[in-house]
Amino acid sequence: MEYRRLGKSGLQLSVLSFGSWVSFSKQINDKVADELMGIAYDNGVNFFDNAEVYALGESEKMMGRILKKKKWERSSFTVSSKAFWGWRGKANKPNQTGCSRKHLTEACNEALLRLQVDYLDLYFCHRPDKKTPIEETVWTMNNLIQQGKILYWGTSEWSGVEIMEAHRVAQQSRLIGPTMEQPQYNLFEREKVEKEFLDVYRTVGLGTTIWSPLAAGLLSGKYNDGIPKGSRFALEGFDWLKDKWVMDEKLKKVKKLSDLAAKLDVTTAALSIAWCIKNPNVSTAILGATKKAQLLDNLKALDAMAKLTSEIMEKIDTIMKTKPVLPEY
Ligand SMILES: NC(=O)c1ccc[n+]([C@@H]2O[C@H](COP(=O)([O-])OP(=O)(O)OC[C@H]3O[C@@H](n4cnc5c(N)ncnc54)[C@H](OP(=O)(O)O)[C@@H]3O)[C@@H](O)[C@H]2O)c1
Repeated sequence: MEYRRLGKSGLQLSVLSFGSWVSFSKQINDKVADELMGIAYDNGVNFFDNAEVYALGESEKMMGRILKKKKWERSSFTVSSKAFWGWRGKANKPNQTGCSRKHLTEACNEALLRLQVDYLDLYFCHRPDKKTPIEETVWTMNNLIQQGKILYWGTSEWSGVEIMEAHRVAQQSRLIGPTMEQPQYNLFEREKVEKEFLDVYRTVGLGTTIWSPLAAGLLSGKYNDGIPKGSRFALEGFDWLKDKWVMDEKLKKVKKLSDLAAKLDVTTAALSIAWCIKNPNVSTAILGATKKAQLLDNLKALDAMAKLTSEIMEKIDTIMKTKPVLPEY
């Protein structure tokens, strides 16, 4: 395993980490989750990602039960939560969502109980909250750090401008600003990580814990010949995800990517994830898996990285045609 500093912080995260969205409590039970987290940890993964909204709180509870059972040294792993959507779904009342002092504080306390830990290593504002003053959010996150309830705070799917605004407020009042952002990043979604955040890395520094490195599984090549039974795109209620991803044009590209992967003697999944972590601005790529074989396959991305020469990277760009156009200085 390779470990990278999270932005300008002293925290070292494994470049491959493990998350629970969709899978925990929806697709897999405690037994499978226990096995997957065990495999991840034994292979050097030291970051486990979660959020209040995942399976409406049940994902955190499941991870909490497993962490308790594993009895890993608390200093040997990091765990996160994210707040914004609340966990009651349609029953959320005012103040049970958003990035206000009240919700961020209460969601943090609830995550600590569900995950059965004394502090969260990473705590994210899961989305920007346009109705709460940024000062309130920054002060709250700073206070949670002072209280020892969280160690590092960050954002998810915030714009570069919003992140810089949080830093401006933090610097003005000598508070701790956001250390990391959790954006989507994969061979289809490159703009934020490769273009929009360039100045943020350069000025205040920014770690990235990127999500959906396989574009929800599409970049594993598993949908090249249709939708397999039991996969995420076959799940009831996830049609929106299927419609977003399973488009002819995208599939054509993935098929070509699979041909290239075969020539390199790596799987499409390993190649796609290796491509993500080849970017030095990626601190960690959060893996998702519902099966042992998937996770083992994805962990091979570490070896596949060595095969990504500049010539291969160019070939990938030619296939995908998603490389952002950068401004000329
Ligand atoms: N901050 C945010 O807004 C946000 C949003 C989304 C996710 N996240 C975080 O990022 C993590 C990863 O996201 P993700 O789960 O969407 O990642 P992903 O890697 O794009 O997709 C993972 C899914 O693809 C399938 N898969 C994975 N490896 C495979 C393989 N080798 N072969 C075939 N199929 C494979 C599995 O689903 P099936 O078996 O069901 O097909 C798996 O659950 C989440 O768990 C969560 O912690 C954060």
